[in-house]
Amino acid sequence: MFEVSEITEKTKSESLTMESIPISKQSEATAGKIKLDGPASASQPETPITPERAIIQSRDFSFFYGSKMGVEKINMDIEIGSVTAIIGPSGCGKSTFLRSINRMNDLIPQTRAEGVLSVGGQDIYDKSTNLVNLRQQVGMVFQRPNPFAKSIYDNITYGPKLQGIRSKAKLDEIVERCLKAGAIWDEVKDDLQKSALALSGGQQQRLCIARTLATMPKVILMDEPCSALDPLATARIEDLIAELKGTYTIVIVTHNMQQAARVSDRTAFFCLGKLVEYGMTDKLFTNPREQATEDYITGRFG
Ligand SMILES: Nc1ncnc2c1ncn2[C@@H]1O[C@H](COP(=O)(O)OP(=O)(O)O)[C@@H](O)[C@H]1O
Ligand SMILES: [Mg+2]
Repeated sequence: MFEVSEITEKTKSESLTMESIPISKQSEATAGKIKLDGPASASQPETPITPERAIIQSRDFSFFYGSKMGVEKINMDIEIGSVTAIIGPSGCGKSTFLRSINRMNDLIPQTRAEGVLSVGGQDIYDKSTNLVNLRQQVGMVFQRPNPFAKSIYDNITYGPKLQGIRSKAKLDEIVERCLKAGAIWDEVKDDLQKSALALSGGQQQRLCIARTLATMPKVILMDEPCSALDPLATARIEDLIAELKGTYTIVIVTHNMQQAARVSDRTAFFCLGKLVEYGMTDKLFTNPREQATEDYITGRFG
């Protein structure tokens, strides 16, 4: 198992204005104008992830909905404390892979997994896996903010209460810590009994992230967490991702390539259920190895 203390403190990303984003990452992608620094080369060294730092390991992992393939033979290690972005055209298996990491897909009948997917060295598709524990360790944030129709306070204490925490002082402490870590404390601290549904979309999404933190996860999965938010609320979530990185391992699916470039250390490009290319984000966006990656990031398809 991994200790938070093992994680080296990473440089926090600077403020997320377009000016601060290197030109090669700016919004030219959608206009099909990203300039590539040089010829794509398969021999570029990747920054390797040592087995001890691979909190998630996927080995020939495939997932099927009935006879339909969702993802096929995914081989990918994810580094502890890092932010990993998954990009690719619609229907390419991004959500399938993400939801496989806390077995959310199991809720769909007639599904089947093959290969190995492990978290913290444990094969999560093994029969012995306790799904409640797994989902406490691997939290999830969805596309649309989905707070419970309860108070802000009760949203945060829901998970800890299920874990058996009853002390009011302890619950108060968790609420304050998680709302602070979720970068929403200052906005809500005077009215914790207010309904979570009365918050703005961006506040709701930060509350949902704070709620995820309350069960002390190791990994946070985010499936297009900003797609229902305006640019300002999006920037706040991106800032928050930068804050959480290091303490937590974050895997984020995004259809927004600028967002992937801004927030992630590594990027995985999926296409038609397969992992086409996976590497350091800077390299993948400026000098991809595969033609399909280049075509996608330059807006030629997808
Ligand atoms: N609940 C489901 N039942 C059947 N097929 C599904 C289901 N969810 C996803 N799929 C299929 O799996 C493939 C990958 O989908 P998905 O992971 O949602 O892609 P993405 O998130 O990249 O848009 C697609 O072909 C999709 O139609
Ligand atoms: Mg999806």
